[in-house]
Amino acid sequence: MSVEYVEKVYNRYSSFYDVVFGKVFHAGRELAPELLDLFPGAQLLEVGVGTGLSFPLLPRNIQITAIDLSQKMLDLAKKRAHSLALRNIELIKMDATNLNFPDQAFDRVLAAYFVSTVPDPVKVVLEMKRVCKPGGLLVFMNHFQSENRVTAPFEKAVSPLFYRLGFRTDLNLRRLMDQCGLEIETREKVGFLGNWTAVRCIVP
Ligand SMILES: C[S@@+](CC[C@H](N)C(=O)[O-])C[C@H]1O[C@@H](n2cnc3c(N)ncnc32)[C@H](O)[C@@H]1O
Repeated sequence: MSVEYVEKVYNRYSSFYDVVFGKVFHAGRELAPELLDLFPGAQLLEVGVGTGLSFPLLPRNIQITAIDLSQKMLDLAKKRAHSLALRNIELIKMDATNLNFPDQAFDRVLAAYFVSTVPDPVKVVLEMKRVCKPGGLLVFMNHFQSENRVTAPFEKAVSPLFYRLGFRTDLNLRRLMDQCGLEIETREKVGFLGNWTAVRCIVP
């Protein structure tokens, strides 16, 4: 996977993304506001915002900066923000591998169904950590590699097949957290079959 390839894939997905991935990922997005523990005036960064399916779920009394690599996904997010009359959202085309924000700029950072779509998840999570204030929260919703000894090797073996679709199936949560110097504060399974995991970390 390269960043350019992922951008092309999601530009292509944009026209049917909400139909295919709207409901499937909804349970995790619904959990986001509670896990983010938002307060009035909080500065939230959402990385890999996609078409902005989280917008109706987030309070209006916070300031949201939302970035994505795909212009076509961002165009749909912009339409959604407009149709919901949201004026607290700034949308920016940006690669999360190199966030163009100063250190400690945000109180909260949300990555919903995102870290397994990037070629270098460690670099991206380190960037999320860098731009979040100490004591701030990073929230992830994602499919992480199973800890089951039978399923885990299978997910690793098939992962390259999924690269073409713009994501991987073998992202190991514990290794990722260790490599980024983060500790898991809370972790829970989400979705009908518990295929996804919601993780919250406090930035040290
Ligand atoms: C599976 S979608 C998730 C979208 C949204 N968060 C949701 O809950 O539906 C992944 C999104 O991450 C974006 N993305 C992938 N790699 C990226 C990168 N390096 N920087 C910024 N956005 C990226 C894709 O363009 C896509 O919109």
